[in-house]
Parts: sequence; structure tokens; C-alpha cells
Amino acid sequence: MSEKYEIGLGNNDVDIRKNAQSDFISFWDKQAHNLTWFSPWERTLDWNSPFAKWFVGGKINASYNTLDIHQKTKSNKPAILWEGENGDSKIYTYGDLFKEVQKFANVLKSLGVEKGDRVTIYLPMVPELPIAMLACARIGAIHTVIFSGFSAASIKDRIDDSKSKIVITADGGFRRGKIVKLKEVIDDAIKDFEFVKNVIVLERAKNEITISSKDKLWTDLMQCVSDSCDAEKLDSEHPLYILYTSGTTGKPKGVLHETGGYLTHLHSTFQWAFDIKDSDVFFCTADIGWVTGHSYVVYAPLLHGATQVMYEGAPDFPDMSRMWQILQKYKVSIFYTTPTALRMFMKFGDQIPNSFDLSSLRLLGTVGEPINPEVWKWYYKVIGKEKCPIIDTWWQTETGGMMISSLPGLETIPLKPGSGTLPIPGVEISVVDEFGTEVPPNTKGYLIIQNPWPGMLQTLWGDDEKYKTVYWSKYSDCYYAGDYAVKDEDGYFWILGRADDVLKIAGHRIGTAELESCIVSNDDVAESAVCGIPDEIKGDVIIAFVVLKEGILTDRTILEKALFNKIRNDIGAIATPKEIYFVPKLPKTRSGKIMRRLLKSIGSGNTIGDTSTLDDVSAVTEIQKIVENKS
Ligand code: WTA
Repeated sequence: MSEKYEIGLGNNDVDIRKNAQSDFISFWDKQAHNLTWFSPWERTLDWNSPFAKWFVGGKINASYNTLDIHQKTKSNKPAILWEGENGDSKIYTYGDLFKEVQKFANVLKSLGVEKGDRVTIYLPMVPELPIAMLACARIGAIHTVIFSGFSAASIKDRIDDSKSKIVITADGGFRRGKIVKLKEVIDDAIKDFEFVKNVIVLERAKNEITISSKDKLWTDLMQCVSDSCDAEKLDSEHPLYILYTSGTTGKPKGVLHETGGYLTHLHSTFQWAFDIKDSDVFFCTADIGWVTGHSYVVYAPLLHGATQVMYEGAPDFPDMSRMWQILQKYKVSIFYTTPTALRMFMKFGDQIPNSFDLSSLRLLGTVGEPINPEVWKWYYKVIGKEKCPIIDTWWQTETGGMMISSLPGLETIPLKPGSGTLPIPGVEISVVDEFGTEVPPNTKGYLIIQNPWPGMLQTLWGDDEKYKTVYWSKYSDCYYAGDYAVKDEDGYFWILGRADDVLKIAGHRIGTAELESCIVSNDDVAESAVCGIPDEIKGDVIIAFVVLKEGILTDRTILEKALFNKIRNDIGAIATPKEIYFVPKLPKTRSGKIMRRLLKSIGSGNTIGDTSTLDDVSAVTEIQKIVENKS
């Protein structure tokens, strides 16, 4: 029996779960009425498995629902309390945001952006990032935000796939006191792309940049436009954005989210999970370049007219007290962060957070990876002072919003450190075996989602077939999440990590295939396999095994350096392995499949278990020796 924490906010809406269970379609139909629609929908769900259309016939706009609807009552209420890494700060009220978004929507129009066009956004965590996204949404353009830590080669693939007409970037961004030259990265990424008509450059870091005929400065453009632009009345299923994420193949997948269903999912989960009140100050530490930032920094808080803190920089800059300083300064009441960040804070002890006034906090959350129970307890005691419920929210880029979480805004249930608890109302989730049969309680299996849900991805951009195979082919008519999980005797879910070749490093998704194809693109390399091994702070870190081509004499230290550089240049620093091991061969099954499980065990110093399917056992002994010698 795991430990239970009886803490809650006293909310208890039992009917909502009952209604959701009896008919999930009417349940979501009711939830969609929380949004403002230009015209009502005719059908709640068209389900042509595995393609869903939610609220068919309804007309809606995401920018209208996050801005226009608040103007009467909240135009002076702060929407974004922005904290720059270098100590700059700025407040954007709902009125300010409304004006800036309309102006920027007019800028996009003046550059020829039309409904359905794609716009790539590569910006640091500055208010202009949500402004650009909401401006796209306002005119029906599809934004595709790329995390500002990705390299030119990664960006190039993504822009090529989405065929964006416009790219929005900054001269530079601040990261741990240094300037990251974002404009330079974009220049490199788009040099062969005729289809990119213009690059809009925000001057943030004021570093020197080269200006070409395609480039336009944000401030110049904003001076020449009016501050009024009506929101387009868009179909509910009109695409809102593409967000690229790593999968099991070498190419990132363009996850496509539509408007009406996605916003419904966000509106409801934000209320249920965070119990949001008008007086709250919400702070989600995610970068907008990832899905958590899209859903729970940009869309959900603004749909609710909430006030939130947005922080530009690294959580440990200039030192380990930065987060707690921000919580104290802005009197944050709801704090949503990652287990990786918490493990790092915990390592530096209680004294740092204890020297700040964190009494404004009333609810805590985590996302992105499993949280170790001891970290959960630290978060609960040291940060929440044993008075704040913790929500552990399981979801994915593909699900759009939370799918498993305790919901203090809805009900009070006992919390168990390390478990996400129950699925949200209106979704049905199971743990099944290889054949799709539900496994008994406390047995490891695959996590599947049984019904369509409103926040679900529409498809993969330009690749309906891949959408079907990746998510809907392993189990017919059920969504395969790619995670291992256990459901316990109380029906609580425990997520055990990825079941496929996707790595979670410090909460970020990295595809093994993407990384391996980058390594083998080095001329000296014949083969490579990467895997994740446990790390005290990051959850997992990457180790890479590399087999060189016959007769390669290049010095291994030089080669190792070249591979590290290549990975940083082609993917980004987040994909850098902790170790690279040069090995004579990789352990494979007789049918030629690399046994990553064995590599993971060797890398973590564990016993290697069953090797009966292995083609050549000597490969393992040699790799073990190499790993031992290097550590
Ligand atoms: C993992 C992030 C355990 C999981 C929102 C999932 C989690 C992947 C949790 C999606 C959690 C997310 N507990 N694991 N609370 N939340 N995950 O697309 O493996 O970046 O499949 O979305 O993160 O990662 P993504």
C-alpha cells in the first residue's frame, strides 16, 4: 500500500463524473458551452475512426476567446507579469494584449498572410511570443512554434515540412546571462527556402544582426498598422497550430491541433485541475516552445482571464533562488513545474526556499515525467508547507491537454505521491497487454485511451497514414499512448515511462532514431544506438554506442568531439549524450534488431538478464568492458 495524503480544497462535484461516464459526447457538448461561439455547432462529434471532428458546424476563434471576451470586465487586469532573465519586467494587461495582438494580426495581413497559411515562430520567452501566436489565431493562420533551443538543422526540417510563408524570430535571446543569436540560426536554416517570404525580427537582446531584403523589424512593422482587427469566424475544426515532436522515426512529427475541441479541453481542465479563481496568480515554468507552454501558458490561462507570471530565463539563473524569488515577488498562488526542476531545487537543500515567503501558494503541479515519491514529498512539505494539494498531470503533445490528474477544482480525493491519480471526466483510459486485454490491478501494461476526446490531435501534418499507424494501429479503435503504466487497486494510474523509442530527458522528448541518424551521418560511423539511463536530476540522460566503419584510425577523442558538435548543431544542446562509447559491435537479436534493453542495463551498471535471443553474446562482454573502463 502506498502512502495517501488526504488534502484537498473541499470541492466535490460528484455529478460531473457520473454524467461524463454515462455519455461522454453530451458531457463534452455541455463543456463546450463555456466558450464563446460565433455560431453554434450542429453535431458534437463526427467520429470517422481515427479522425474526429468536434463541434461540427460551430464557428469560433481562439484569439477572441482569450482576449475580446475579457475586454468589458478585465481590460485593466494583468494578463502577463513578465520577468526577464536580466531583471527587466513588464506588465501586460488584457487591454494591452488585445491591442498588441490586433496590431500584429494586421502586420501579418500586410505581409500577405492568409487563413490557413503557416507561420513559424522561433522566439525566446518574451510576451511577443504569445502575441504572435494569438495574432495568427486571430486571422486563421496556423502557427508553428519551434523551441528556441533547437538548432538550424532541426528548424530547417520543420520549416520545410510546414512550408511557412513567414518566420518570426528575435535578434537574440538571453540564456544564463549569455546571448543566443537566434536570427543567425534562422538565416542559416532558411537560406535555401524561396517559399519563406519574410522574416520578422524582434529586437530583444540588441546584438548585431545582418539584415537581408526579406527581413523586417518588429517595431517598424508595428508602427504602420491600425490597432483594430476583427477575429475571423473560423470552423471549429480549423487548424490552430502544428507542433513538431519526436517520435520513433528519424523525422519529427507535426502534431496538428484544431480549435473548438482543443479550447474546450483546455477550458475544462484548467478549471478542474487548478481550481482557478479571479484572484489567483498562476505560474507555469514551461517554455512555450513545448506543448505545456502552448496549452497552459498561452491558451488555458487566457481563456479564463487569469493573471500569470511568464519568466524568460533559466530557473537557476543567476542562482538557485531565482524561482522562489519570483514566487515571492509576484505572490504566486498556483505553481506548475517539472520533476526535473524540482529534483534540482531539492538537491540544493531546504534552506534556499525556506528563506523566501511562499505563503501565497495554495496549489502545486507537475508535468512531463514521472515524479519520484521522495521529490513529491519534498515539494509538498518544503514548498507547499503541507497545505497545498499537488496535481501530477499526465498528458502528451498529442492529447492537447491533461488526461490524468487529480482535480482539486472538482473534487477532493486522497493523493498518492508518484501517481497521477484518475483520468479526467469524459475520457476512458486503460492499461492493457500486448493483445489489448486489460491487465489486472498492479500489473504493468500499455496505456491506451478508448474514446476520442476534444483536445486530441487532428492528424499529423500532411501524413494521415502515419497518424493512423503510429497511434491507432496497435489496438484497433484505441489510441496507443506509447507509455507503460500500472493501474492500482484504487484505480489510480502510475506512469512508468515510455514503451517506445522515445527518450524523456529532463522532461523533453527526444527520438532515438533522430539522434542515431544524426550520429551515423558522420562519415566514419557505421552504426549507432542510443538509450537513456537513470539520472538523479534529469530523470534520464542519454548514452550513445557507436560502431565505426572498418579501418577508421581517427583519434577517438577528436571523433567524440566531432560527434558532440554534430548533435548540438543538428538537433540542439538538449540531445547531447552524457557519454559516447566506441564499441566493436552492437548487441542484436538473430533477426537483426538492436537490443537497446541490454545497452540500457550495461550503461546503468545493472545485471543484463536474459540474453537467449542475442545473436552474439561476446558483443555484450566487450561493451561491458568498454563501459567499465570509461567510468
Ligand atoms: C511523459 C508533455 C509521468 C509521458 C506534456 C508522455 C509523464 C510524455 C507525465 C509526453 C506525468 C508526461 N507522469 N510521465 N505526469 N506527463 N509524461 O509530448 O511519457 O512532451 O508520453 O508532453 O511525457 O511528452 P510531451
